[in-house]
Parts: sequence; structure tokens; C-alpha cells
Amino acid sequence: MGALLVKCCVRDGYTHVGPERSVRKIVNSRVIAAPRPGSGSENSRLREKSLLHERRIEDPLAVKRALISDIHSNLEGLEAVLKDIRGQDIDEIYCLGDIIGYGPNPRECIDLIMACDACLLGNHDQGALFDPEGFNSGAERAIFWTREQLEDPRQSAKENARLWDFLGELPRNRKEEGYLFVHGSPRNPLNEYVFPEDIYNQRKMEKLFSLFERSCFQGHTHVPGVFTEGSRFYSPEDVKGEYSFTDEKIMVNVGSVGQPRDGDPRSCYVILTDDGLQYRRVEYDFEKTIEKIYSIQELDNFLGDRLRAGR
Ligand SMILES: [Fe+2]
Repeated sequence: MGALLVKCCVRDGYTHVGPERSVRKIVNSRVIAAPRPGSGSENSRLREKSLLHERRIEDPLAVKRALISDIHSNLEGLEAVLKDIRGQDIDEIYCLGDIIGYGPNPRECIDLIMACDACLLGNHDQGALFDPEGFNSGAERAIFWTREQLEDPRQSAKENARLWDFLGELPRNRKEEGYLFVHGSPRNPLNEYVFPEDIYNQRKMEKLFSLFERSCFQGHTHVPGVFTEGSRFYSPEDVKGEYSFTDEKIMVNVGSVGQPRDGDPRSCYVILTDDGLQYRRVEYDFEKTIEKIYSIQELDNFLGDRLRAGR
């Protein structure tokens, strides 16, 4: 899939993907700066690149991706998930949006997500870039506070622009080999929610399923699970954390790294292979995140409380 992947990226005009943005840059190190030519770290990076390239040539379908979404400035959750990904022999990480909003570490989270192989725009990312619309007052206050952090006068204008430019260039969807990746839904990639109870809304589901070829991967609701074209919904527990692909089309909500809402406070993400997918739940120090939220006046305490409850 490697060669095809690059071809698809060119077709979609997406510029953040390429072998030089290997996942190992993010999962093996917090250091994002490019290594010096000829240095040990550059040599090992080149070695990793060539190993990935060889693997794709041997078995083009063997690319193993981690799909993460809805980080919401939760650094502890994101770091725990990246650490877990490091142990899963992952080739690429895709982020399905909402890097920021709600949580206390927007700058740090954007910095880490920049090294992903692909990233989409989420509605909270858009809310920070433009005028936030359709958010409740707590979410809106968090977005205004997030903006202030991204315009931190203690940082250089160039450094602030680096973060804003990254957000401003994020695409709303990504298509490759029958797969569609969005933040919200196939119909409205940024804002439409697809909740488990929507399986009873036949018209909505028929429309959504008509808009992609094989599988659609999304976030936004923070509720993980698999929707089938036959109007069924399977939570990760229903399928014991794993789902094997059949001929039936599916929509997959990958859950949330930084603000799970399915009653399980652990971070959630998905590992995607050609055969199927696996849900991973990762414990992290949410009390540390909660403490940070409590200490920031502009962030409602409720935003911390809900991390403890996973709601
Ligand atoms: Fe979100």
C-alpha cells in the first residue's frame, strides 16, 4: 500500500504525509527537531525509514496504523497513548481531529501531533482558528483560553505562527483505497455527530453509508464503536475489543484519547490493519490533568470531573 498511499496523498493534495514523517519520530522521542546530518539519530532514522519501505514492498497490505482522535489538550492521555503505540509495531499514526479545546496543554499536544503521518481538522480546532459557533459556554470559554495560549507573548511570533499554521492547513477529510477518514461524519466531516442510537434513524444511516466505498473512520462523539450497514452498533465490549472486516461496510468511531465518554476513563484508540481493527484502552494519570484544569480559572472544573468519570 506504500506506493499507492503516496499516490493517493498527491491526488488529495495533502502535504503532511511522506516517508520522512515516519511514525517512529513521534513514538520514539519527544524531540521533534531534525537531527544533524550524519549524526547517530539521523542514521537510525534512515534505517527505520528503509525498514518500513522494505516491509511495504514485501507485503503492501501490512501497513499497521494507529488511529487516534479527540485529544483535547490532554497531554497525559496523549503521552500514555503514544507510549502504548510504541509497543505495538505501528507504522503510521493518523489523528482524526480535535487536538485542542477543553484541556490544559494545547501547545504541547499540537507539537506532538505535528509528527503524525496524517491529521484532520476537528470542530474545536476550527473553533480556535475562527469564531467558535455552536459550542456551550464552557467549551467556548476553553476555546478562547486556548487561543490565548497559542498567542503566548512569551513565545516568539515565529513559534506561535508554527502552531497556528499547522492547524490552519489541516484538511477536513482523507480518502485512500476505499477508506474515508473524517472527524464528524461522511456527510459533514467537521460537525455532524453519529451516536449509537442513530442506528434507529434509517434515513440518516443510509445517507451516511452511501458516501463512502468500504469503511469510514471517525471521532467527534468520543463514544467508540462499530456501526454496520445493517444498522447494528457494536461497542468495543460487544466485540471483545476486536472486529474483523467482512464484505459489509462499516463506520468506526475510534473513541477519544483525551476525554472518553463511554463510562471508561481510560484513553481509547484503534489499531487498523488490512484484516480488521483492535480497540486499545490505556490508563493514564487523569488526576494530574484534573489538577491542571482546576488550577486554570478559564477552564470549568466540570471538564476535569468528567475525566474521572469517563463521561
Ligand atoms: Fe471532540
